[in-house]
Amino acid sequence: MTSQNIYILAIESSCDDTAASVMHNGKILSNIVANQKIHEAYGGVVPELASRAHQQNIVPVVDQALKKAGINKDQLSAIAFTRGPGLMGSLLVGTSFAKSLAYGLNIPLIDVNHMQAHILAHFIDEADFEKPPFPFLAMTISGGHTQIVKVNSYFDMEVIGETIDDAVGEAFDKSGKILGLGYPAGPEIDRRAKLGNPKAYAFTKPKVDGLNFSFSGLKTAILYFVQKQVKANPNFIEEHLNDVCASIQYTIIGILIDKLKLATKQTGIKHIAIGGGVSANSGIRQALKDGEHKFGWTTYVPKFEYTTDNAAMIAIVGHLKYLEGNYADQSVMASARLKI
Ligand code: KG4
Ligand code: ZN
Repeated sequence: MTSQNIYILAIESSCDDTAASVMHNGKILSNIVANQKIHEAYGGVVPELASRAHQQNIVPVVDQALKKAGINKDQLSAIAFTRGPGLMGSLLVGTSFAKSLAYGLNIPLIDVNHMQAHILAHFIDEADFEKPPFPFLAMTISGGHTQIVKVNSYFDMEVIGETIDDAVGEAFDKSGKILGLGYPAGPEIDRRAKLGNPKAYAFTKPKVDGLNFSFSGLKTAILYFVQKQVKANPNFIEEHLNDVCASIQYTIIGILIDKLKLATKQTGIKHIAIGGGVSANSGIRQALKDGEHKFGWTTYVPKFEYTTDNAAMIAIVGHLKYLEGNYADQSVMASARLKI
């Protein structure tokens, strides 16, 4: 990539994962993530507990990232950090830590937009996955976000569709909660969906214009459906759980694929890059692959550890901004609602 030795330390703390990564000239040397188990007991992320856990985890996680990379703090070229969007209390921990460290080492500070990072994760320099060519469409699907973005170049991106209420991961997690599954329920629904009939029950897809998404109506429809069935048969959930999971997953996949079809039609762009934890879903992966033959698109999926919340994706943005000399001022502030 360059004859210079560029070492970026990146920090991510936007939600409930404390993460740090070291990158050397676009290649990942370490990618450490501390998950916060505490939220499982509450069935969702509790912001106050998340910021406390970040404060506890941040130094050990950064220390581990540097050790695993085998480098010393003095070798770092810049510190990159997630400025937003995310939970304010969580963002503040990473932002303050990054500022202090950059100040102490007297090196550049680089602010990173978490949503851009999910997309630019595809450009981490690694042989196992292919980089999408510009322009491409990026679909970021996770517990916190659902967006379709038109990506013209590294820093020229336009959001062309997004959720107007819940994220797609929340649709999985909240449906799972109704069915009595643990949090997060996405992986369990995925596992059970493979054993069930996707057409056993029909749930109406939301009617949202254009490329925007809505998932809160689906959650309510599932709640009413389950309540009605349980009234008639108290064992309904135990007896039909796999079919219900398969039907929910089938509905969600249908919603995502319909919007992608529309996005490719509207933009004429047929390269689709996927990011976010929900991209682990086996049904979604299959539907995207099938679309390659059916609709003539090409899909790009990065390595899984770069697709859920992580700091490697923050590092690649830090690296690209470092090459442009695009640094943040020490007065930069975290921004919970930062836009692409
Ligand atoms: O990207 P991520 O780790 O964190 C953020 O939310 O930012 O995504 C977590 C989300 C959760 O909602 C989880 O249920 C969902 O990704 N998820 C899945 C699967 N694996 C994780 N959803 C469906 N199928 C899966 N296999
Ligand atoms: Zn994320």
